[in-house]
Amino acid sequence: MIAADEKQDKWSPDSWQARKIWQMPEYDSPEELRERYNELKHYPPLVTSWEIEKLRKRIAEASNGQGFIMQGGDCAESFDTCNSDTIVKLLKVLLQMSFILIHEMNTPVTRIGRIAGQYAKPRSSDFEKVGDKLIPSYRGDLFNSFEPNEQARRVDPARLVEAYQKSAMTLNFVRSLTDGGGFADMHHPEYWELNFMKKNQYYAEYKQMVESIHHAIHFVEAISPNRVHTLKNVDFYTSHEALNLYYDSAQTREVPHKPGYYNLSTHMPWIGNRTRQLDGAHVEYMRGIRNPIGIKVGPPYETDEILRLIELLNPDQEQGRITLITRFGKDKVPEHLPGLIRAVNRAGFHVLWSCDPMHGNTYATNSGIKTRAFNDILCDIKQTFEVHRSENTILGGVHLEMTGGDVTECVGGANGLNEAGLGENYLSYCDPRLNYEQALEMAFLIAREWKLSRRKDLL
Ligand code: PEP
Ligand code: CO
Repeated sequence: MIAADEKQDKWSPDSWQARKIWQMPEYDSPEELRERYNELKHYPPLVTSWEIEKLRKRIAEASNGQGFIMQGGDCAESFDTCNSDTIVKLLKVLLQMSFILIHEMNTPVTRIGRIAGQYAKPRSSDFEKVGDKLIPSYRGDLFNSFEPNEQARRVDPARLVEAYQKSAMTLNFVRSLTDGGGFADMHHPEYWELNFMKKNQYYAEYKQMVESIHHAIHFVEAISPNRVHTLKNVDFYTSHEALNLYYDSAQTREVPHKPGYYNLSTHMPWIGNRTRQLDGAHVEYMRGIRNPIGIKVGPPYETDEILRLIELLNPDQEQGRITLITRFGKDKVPEHLPGLIRAVNRAGFHVLWSCDPMHGNTYATNSGIKTRAFNDILCDIKQTFEVHRSENTILGGVHLEMTGGDVTECVGGANGLNEAGLGENYLSYCDPRLNYEQALEMAFLIAREWKLSRRKDLL
């Protein structure tokens, strides 16, 4: 292991290359890689340092109970779905979910998409069996292609540039939609789908809430007719797993009048559960950037290791820097979360606690389809709220895999999708996502849990 002070001395956007690198397959042509990397280095940034600083402030506020962070999007974005329909639908559902949360929680909600760069995936196996052949696994469009043949699975450096281009197109459209009133029709009732909730026991409550949101939107529009600072401008941030470090480090730059380096490819990069080794390349890269960062924490882990990681990534204990995204799985939350919370508190560390109820709750059906059950996801969230309540800490965010489309990837929810229906519209290249209806219902139920956890405090 490298000594801590040695680590502190020598950071540069490329210093990670001297560390052990997990989950990044090798490129077979160093020349081609260098060429693409240098090309990427010269392109304009996708986001700005002041947007990044603003998000850090929002995260700090949420960690102090003044706000909530809602992060969500695809498990893996793909180059093919960089289109208007997919982007509009994801933004629409994230916006509607945030309205539900704001309305029910009475607190500001910050939206962060897993979008405009979520193109690289860690995999449990380097190879995949196709027929009787072993071919390299798909690792996200930033590395190789989903098509199941040897040639398509070649790790191609040209994808670094294509990922940048697709991210730029996505972000350009996101910015137009969120700045220009593209969602001004949010107050039309038909924009909100209600019927699917009819089978949910909370339908009446849900219906009333949607009506109340319409009234609130009309009210805001009536008192501020030019609407410049209300519904026309929606704060929206981007995030992705900083997994392909060539991609992230090529876009890591110094900016005028501020110290340090920023990853200008996204507002909030995160470290995955499989790449958070203290002496690994990903941690080395992350420690030198100024962005707020997420850390996924799930089994297997050692509490001491997580504490050292927080210390290493946030030596000055700046608020808003670290979001701990716990992803234990529904049965493991009561066993793991209290100990981790206590250890973080004892160390005096300040973090935003967020819950990823997706990645600990994945299973395969008998016919081998990867899915997640709506009730398991909800149960994970309920238990996480419960533990934070009894530990006197704040659950300040959630992290969901979801889409605005009508996919059939997770089972359950008010519409009662079952395993037999999974094949109908299963589109994910990686993990199963909540569909539009499941995501809206989940937002409503998250808000319910949040209110319940507050109410219990008063008892
Ligand atoms: C993910 O968020 O898509 C992911 C791979 O999660 P984790 O690192 O928690 O396994
Ligand atoms: Co995933």
